[in-house]
Amino acid sequence: RTVYVNGQYLPEEEATVSIFDRGFLMADGVYEVTSVLGGKLIDFAGHAARLERSLKELDMEKPEAFDDLLEIHRELVARNGIEEGMVYLQVTRGNPGDRDFAFPDPATTKPTLVLFTQNKPGLADNPQAQKGIKVISIEDIRWGRRDIKTVQLLYPSMGKMMAKKAGCDDAWLVEDGFVTEGTSNNTYIVKDGKIITRNLSHDILHGITRAAVLRFAKEAQMVVEERPFTIEEAQGADEAFFTSASAFVMPVVEIDGNPVKEGKVGPVASRLREIYLDESR
Ligand code: PDD
Repeated sequence: RTVYVNGQYLPEEEATVSIFDRGFLMADGVYEVTSVLGGKLIDFAGHAARLERSLKELDMEKPEAFDDLLEIHRELVARNGIEEGMVYLQVTRGNPGDRDFAFPDPATTKPTLVLFTQNKPGLADNPQAQKGIKVISIEDIRWGRRDIKTVQLLYPSMGKMMAKKAGCDDAWLVEDGFVTEGTSNNTYIVKDGKIITRNLSHDILHGITRAAVLRFAKEAQMVVEERPFTIEEAQGADEAFFTSASAFVMPVVEIDGNPVKEGKVGPVASRLREIYLDESR
């Protein structure tokens, strides 16, 4: 696989980053995941805009190649022959040559930019989307700026492991009694035809897939209500699902061992997945 590091396309074995890189030492970095379907990038502009916002919120410099990001994405997709999969991009505050909590001077320390592709054939025809997935709920103990897409992914990884241990696929995070989001996705329920999803704030990532799906839902005359909901409300809903760049629209059929309705994939989630894939291809 060919990867990109700071201006160079290299075989993955030859790509290196310093041990002093603040991404490595401090999780001082942000990322984006853009999916590829039929060799085409989905919603690149949305991901680039969110990346720019994440950098700004953390007072991090834009990498020199910021204006070439689309071209770099396309080049990697072409070189690696990606039909279905994703492009991962990460920017860190770079390598100050030592360990220090204070941010380095941006005049001397340039951000590190890394991109690589992941080949995922069968992403669109994922059999899990037919069956639906099972989730557990866990407390959301992440930091308070989840709207910034940082590489601090330890707790989401732990949540994923807690889910696996419980025989489930993912975890929904709960703060003050209300669902914030999934470990790596935005969460929704459907009740009496209405789509309910948490409103945007610092509490959740402003999903690019979320924005697209809500737009398609409104275009299809579906009613959308943006507000927090509880696990109990989700368990008593007609449907539940989540969205992300890597899973698109994914139905959830069981929460903490309780089936959502009859524990089957519902029509709203199926339709939204279909519309999303149709519009993206
Ligand atoms: N995760 N919420 C969290 C915490 C996420 O990590 C993600 C994405 C989302 C959905 O955002 P989007 O629709 O823009 O992908 C919501 C990516 C896919 C990941 O970490 O792999």
